[in-house]
Amino acid sequence: MPSSPHLLEELEPVVAENLDRHLAIAQEWHPHDYIPWSEGRDFAFLGGEDYAPEQSRLSDTAKAAMFTNLLTEDNLPSYHREIATRFGRDGAWGTWVGRWTAEENRHGVALRDYLVVTRGVDPVELERARMDYMTSGYDSGDKTALETVAYVSFQELATRVSHRNTGKVTHDPVADKLLARISKDENLHMVFYRNIGAAALDIAPDETMRAITDEVVGFEMPGATMAGFRRSSMIIAKAGIYDLRLHYDEVLMPVLRHWKVFERTDLGPDGEQAREELAAFLAELDAQATRFVDRRAENRARVAARADSDATPDIAS
Ligand SMILES: [Fe+2]
Ligand SMILES: [Fe+2]
Repeated sequence: MPSSPHLLEELEPVVAENLDRHLAIAQEWHPHDYIPWSEGRDFAFLGGEDYAPEQSRLSDTAKAAMFTNLLTEDNLPSYHREIATRFGRDGAWGTWVGRWTAEENRHGVALRDYLVVTRGVDPVELERARMDYMTSGYDSGDKTALETVAYVSFQELATRVSHRNTGKVTHDPVADKLLARISKDENLHMVFYRNIGAAALDIAPDETMRAITDEVVGFEMPGATMAGFRRSSMIIAKAGIYDLRLHYDEVLMPVLRHWKVFERTDLGPDGEQAREELAAFLAELDAQATRFVDRRAENRARVAARADSDATPDIAS
């Protein structure tokens, strides 16, 4: 941030205020409360039975989504390194980094407990994927602190939406309750970063506007580098757990509206330029999202029609 070298320090009081706010409203919860332990049993190593796919009550879609969500949560050491490097370890920023990390760790703990106890996914596959993904780690590149604030504002909300919608496709009230609980945390994380972003816009409107545009245009989920992500994200999009429409309607636009990005009158030429690029990008994304949803509806109708015609002889006979 060449023109605002002290932005992090300038934001410190806002961080302190939002940290207090977060600590006051975040409710304590315990992963163990959400796990149906009575369903658990030993694996072959201890004389029981190893995992077999038919033991899982989850659909392939729910499995793919839970797997992706958990692996994404698992890469926490990388995210911690990212934000500790950008925001520092001192003062309110440092306290936030620690608290956020502790809360995020709970998500991975709870999801893993659930999946292993209920035999929702293959624990061997899960462990191998975790080893692989964590070994390569996550690297957001050379984002500035400002870009990081913009990115995580959207990313936390994206995580909220995908956990919430994953809960719905599990058709399991236990998983649904757990994922709803996790998504509440993600929402509070989003609120924290969004408020810091709002303050940054007031302090340094042009630079913040540029950071927002760049992060919206280049947005990628943190899990994008995990093995099989393309396939999983297609399954996730097909099921409406997370897709372009949701990304536009429920992630990008609510945050941008909160920041009053398109109503601001305090931008200079650089900020205006960034805002114009953002508007053009959003218009194209909106159109793309509509095309995606239309195509998906056509595909679903085709599949339903095929199922109907397959079923016809039975009904007739
Ligand atoms: Fe999380
Ligand atoms: Fe989060």
